[in-house]
Amino acid sequence: MKTITIKEMADHVGEEVRIGGWLANKRSSGKIAFLQLRDGSGFVQGVVVKDVVGEEIFQTARGITQETSLYVTGEVVVDERSSFGYELQINDVKVIKEAVDYPITPKNHGTEFLMDNRHLWLRSRKQHAVMKIRNEIIRATYEFFHMNGFTKIDPPILTGSSPEGTSDLFETKYFDEDAYLSQSGQLYMEAAAMALGKVFSFGPTFRAEKSSTRRHLIEFWMIEPEMAFVEHEESLEIQEQYVTHLVQSVLQNCPLELERLDRDLSKLEKIKAPFPRISYDEAIEFLHEQGFDDIKWGDDFGAPHETAIAEHHDMPVFIVNYPIGIKPFYMQPHPERDDVVLCADLIAPEGYGEVIGGSERIYDYELMKQRIKEHNLDEDAYEWYLELSKYGAVPHSGFGLGLERTVAWISGVEHVRETSPFPRLLNRLYP
Ligand code: 4AD
Ligand code: MG
Repeated sequence: MKTITIKEMADHVGEEVRIGGWLANKRSSGKIAFLQLRDGSGFVQGVVVKDVVGEEIFQTARGITQETSLYVTGEVVVDERSSFGYELQINDVKVIKEAVDYPITPKNHGTEFLMDNRHLWLRSRKQHAVMKIRNEIIRATYEFFHMNGFTKIDPPILTGSSPEGTSDLFETKYFDEDAYLSQSGQLYMEAAAMALGKVFSFGPTFRAEKSSTRRHLIEFWMIEPEMAFVEHEESLEIQEQYVTHLVQSVLQNCPLELERLDRDLSKLEKIKAPFPRISYDEAIEFLHEQGFDDIKWGDDFGAPHETAIAEHHDMPVFIVNYPIGIKPFYMQPHPERDDVVLCADLIAPEGYGEVIGGSERIYDYELMKQRIKEHNLDEDAYEWYLELSKYGAVPHSGFGLGLERTVAWISGVEHVRETSPFPRLLNRLYP
């Protein structure tokens, strides 16, 4: 008999099938046992009735411990009470390997314990749902950019330069040279945009930040599009269409996962482009009105500030035109003001904070040279980057979307640590 996956059960109603899986949970009485089974593709209930299977199989089923691997055979039936819609009426159970004293039980465990057991915790219903949503966001990302004529480019991980400032670099040796793990692929993506027009990357990035907030990881994955001949305003339009596509794709393709996470769908359903835009100046004014006396023009926003701004909207909101002094060297100055740059951060609703940072890029050679100097960057390391504005420079813009923060927001999980399969956190490199 062919082994099918739980996900494929819908195509086999009324048939006898075999499923390979693990026991997630069970309950039983003297006559009937309910096995909650998982196989990676999904979760389903298997029903074992003593009068149907006989004493021996029934006792085997009743004795199966949590996370024991097994093959079950049975008939697929429609089950309207479960949101999955099907269950398995089991007629045979074969244990593959017994799991004894599985550490994560249905009782409540503390976060540190669960993080120590991340390699096992991934099997749980909630973590399974979050990983499926992460996967859908990645799938929808490739779909969106390929639909819109972008080419996928892979920037290097080992680099000699630091696009986002020098304070949180992960340093390493590159034989005799000093090197860093990539903070952002942006500068390389700019080179690629001059070769291929519209490009996007998707890869790991590293920040040795001493932050342990619900929004910070040491290693996180970023999607970085870069677009030749695209100015700031058009870049914002692409960003809002992209984020809309991500949310709508998850709504459409992950209904069971969103339900398992108890996600409030009404909050996601209304996420549609266009998103509101407010200027940094307006944001400061708004915060003062809200009683935030601690912040003044020129300061960067902290999490409480971003949350207060987000709470005022039920859409993600762009904050545009930040002061030049708190943004990286490569951002294009505002055409009418010398104190702000053409950039935007996209703040997600519900307190998830900044999910995108982006800007138009400088393409004037002399200005770029001057900015590299002003930021005390090693001019030799940036020589190749400077040449991009020397040979046929054009207006261009780009942005970076943090995958884990986006997954946290769309899934509705509190902390980014649950959105990475094996999160690297301050003080955590295990497992
Ligand atoms: O705002 P950031 O630092 O922007 C850049 O790196 C640009 N070079 C991107 C570009 O224009 N190509 O980071 C972009 C996004 C943030 O908005 C956030 O979503 C995420 O990356 N991010 C983090 N996510 C988790 N943990 C951290 N420590 C993060 N730092 C940034
Ligand atoms: Mg940023």
